[in-house]
Amino acid sequence: MLNLAILASGRGSNMVSLVEAVKKKDLPVKIVAVVTNKIGAPCLDKADSLGIPSYCLLPKDFSSRFEYDQALAEFLLEKGVDTICLAGFMWLLGAEFVSRFRGRILNIHPSLLPAFPGLEAQKQALSYGVKISGCTVHFVDEGLDSGPIILQETVPVLTFDTVESLSERILVKEHEIYPRALELLALGKLKVFGRQVEIMK
Ligand code: GRF
Repeated sequence: MLNLAILASGRGSNMVSLVEAVKKKDLPVKIVAVVTNKIGAPCLDKADSLGIPSYCLLPKDFSSRFEYDQALAEFLLEKGVDTICLAGFMWLLGAEFVSRFRGRILNIHPSLLPAFPGLEAQKQALSYGVKISGCTVHFVDEGLDSGPIILQETVPVLTFDTVESLSERILVKEHEIYPRALELLALGKLKVFGRQVEIMK
């Protein structure tokens, strides 16, 4: 059984898709907490309505990024968390945090990594003029959206796409692959060899 925390800063649609998949598929995952770093983030209300305890840990209450990361790690460890899903968490976790949960942190990113890491991935894809974009679920390492890739899904870029229309279509795929990746992790079907993630039958 995984003891999972979901870290989110915004609307929380991926958080909802993870919670719903755990319930629907009866996955061996206990969702211990939703944690945000933004006051009034919509994901908090969504977590409440799903019956998941939610917490707000604000960067302004800490004197450095390092202290924030440390407090967050300790908070999660006290709650018995062993696995973390980042779902639109607007915060780059430092190396020490990552090493405390190595191989146990997942992230979803709205591009086909390694293309367009960082902020506004959909805008980057449109500006570059790619014909195909998509989304990626990956393990988190010390870099920016750079850890080993678990699953990817493609989405065509259409002639009249705006950032909004492309983001919307990518989000549909995000809600498919993130729960699927969590399921694979929970069932012990992911084996990592360096950058390669093998999916066991
Ligand atoms: C998603 O596009 C995700 O890929 C990115 O942040 C966004 C979060 O959306 N990391 P939501 O809060 O899950 O709706």
